[in-house]
Amino acid sequence: MEKNCIVQGNKQIIADINRLKQEKNAVILAHYYETGAVQDAADIVGDSFALSRMAKDTDASIIVFCGVRFMAESAKILSPHKKVLLPVPHAGCPMADMVTPEDVRSLREKHPQAAVVCYVNSSCEVKAESDVCVTSSNAVKIVRAMDEKQIIFVPDQNLGRYVAENVQEKEVFLHSGFCPVHHRLTSDDVAKAKAQMPGAVLLAHPECTRAVLDAADYIGSTAQILDYAKQAAEQTFIIATEEGILHKLHKDNPDKVFFPLTPNLLCTDMKKTTLLDLRDALLYEQHEISLSYDVMSKARRCLDRMLILS
Ligand code: 13P
Ligand code: SF4
Repeated sequence: MEKNCIVQGNKQIIADINRLKQEKNAVILAHYYETGAVQDAADIVGDSFALSRMAKDTDASIIVFCGVRFMAESAKILSPHKKVLLPVPHAGCPMADMVTPEDVRSLREKHPQAAVVCYVNSSCEVKAESDVCVTSSNAVKIVRAMDEKQIIFVPDQNLGRYVAENVQEKEVFLHSGFCPVHHRLTSDDVAKAKAQMPGAVLLAHPECTRAVLDAADYIGSTAQILDYAKQAAEQTFIIATEEGILHKLHKDNPDKVFFPLTPNLLCTDMKKTTLLDLRDALLYEQHEISLSYDVMSKARRCLDRMLILS
């Protein structure tokens, strides 16, 4: 009975979301780490790169970003004249908070010849201090294409190290940031999972440590992991990234089997947004992203350069 009430309640909220979206010419973007219910209510679900592209190209007047703050900020930077709403304003990224503009300035002083590459998981202020932005899907390609021989990479030490190993002709100076969700995964976790699922294919996100990446059969962004699983002939996969991705993996591949590398592989910030938060953001047009024009235009250069080099 209680479950029926929830289903009825959700149906009404989804109907409200769809009506409000039409009335207000809004588009709903969601990341693959959001809850299944929020992903299903979105117009576009994607990885950080696809969502940045969509935010730039959409004709909608309002962008509702179901994700974390740096994603909604990137949407605002790329579409400054649009209203960008973040349904839960305190949904942040702990890794993005690990680097400050002052950190970037002091790294530049230490390595004056180096270009600053910032992972998209960073604040608008950090982007404004950087030369080019990257996501996990294009970081290797962009760093390889840059003219500079020395690179400062912020904030993710794991993605930065992965880039350095794949672009050996460059010298890469790493910041110490990390994603708490991916960084805690160990080679013991891999050994346990492989013992339980012999023959399973390990798909890992580059935010994981070297120990996990060394054991992986494929390394990629969330969208790249989804593409890989779809085309693979194998049937069983161990997934070393946030478990929200399982929703789409199951939807796309009903006959294949997916196990998260460990239980509770959860980003709590990505799970903060509910259907009700999404409905209310649309209804009241609340939690709008507002950034200083000056900082935004400096950050824009760094995102535009990423889009050109991708
Ligand atoms: P991607 O979806 O770009 O792989 O990013 C992962 C992530 O951590 C987003 O916060
Ligand atoms: Fe940040 Fe990690 Fe959560 Fe992505 S999964 S938003 S990097 S804390």
